[in-house]
Amino acid sequence: MKIIMLGAPGAGKGTQAKKIAEKYGVPHISTGDIFRANIKNGTELGNKAKTYMDQGLLVPDELTVALVIDRIQGEDCKNGFVLDGFPRTIPQAEALDEALKGLGEAMDYAIDVDVPDENIINRMSGRRACLDCGATYHIVTIPTKVEGICDACGSKVVLREDDKPETVQKRLEVYHAQTQPLIDYYKGQNILKTVDGTQPMEAVFGAIVGILGA
Ligand code: AP5
Repeated sequence: MKIIMLGAPGAGKGTQAKKIAEKYGVPHISTGDIFRANIKNGTELGNKAKTYMDQGLLVPDELTVALVIDRIQGEDCKNGFVLDGFPRTIPQAEALDEALKGLGEAMDYAIDVDVPDENIINRMSGRRACLDCGATYHIVTIPTKVEGICDACGSKVVLREDDKPETVQKRLEVYHAQTQPLIDYYKGQNILKTVDGTQPMEAVFGAIVGILGA
């Protein structure tokens, strides 16, 4: 089962992708998490990516595409994978299709988690993220058990640099200009499914399971 999660920043792609990965036993591949891990480890890729991410801009395709194409050929991706945050541009989507074609495969689903812009800013300012294990929380809807500490690994949770309101606004503009066209791209391939991402998390997941099968 090969799935792409589409949606604006903060729509809940990561939240749902983790649940899909767990239920269907496929790896969750988040380009945002990969970049953040590289930033934390001070790698050359991380240093380059940070300059774009902190401004709410996309990391250039030449730093992103090869990384994902390599990752999806890993042994653990044999039964599928869920892509979270990739593709984000038409050239990325075309590169992914091309690479899969070379392997005799194709994507099965592109799931658009639909949330209007007005809901996004609130969600992002309340999000807290663990930069060690990638877990995400929300100070109101999903608080950590101990304030400021990740339930999963015990590290500190923080407001991501790019979750500050002015950067979120920029990320939304970039989303509408560069990523939203993917909705039509996947509609054209007949693999687009849309779920209402304003519902509570379990209801969103229920809708996704309704699409993917129990
Ligand atoms: P990335 O990490 O992918 O960020 P994003 O797409 O902006 O998505 P987010 O992680 O911010 O949100 P999400 O949709 O996963 O929402 P979440 O589940 O956390 O990318 C960061 C940056 O990296 C990009 O800006 C770019 O610079 C770079 N990058 C990454 N991939 C790239 C690529 N392919 N090409 C180029 N550059 C790339 O939920 C958000 C909050 O809402 C949480 O607090 C959550 O608890 C809460 N929530 C979730 N669902 C619900 C619900 N149903 N109801 C209420 N609250 C909810």
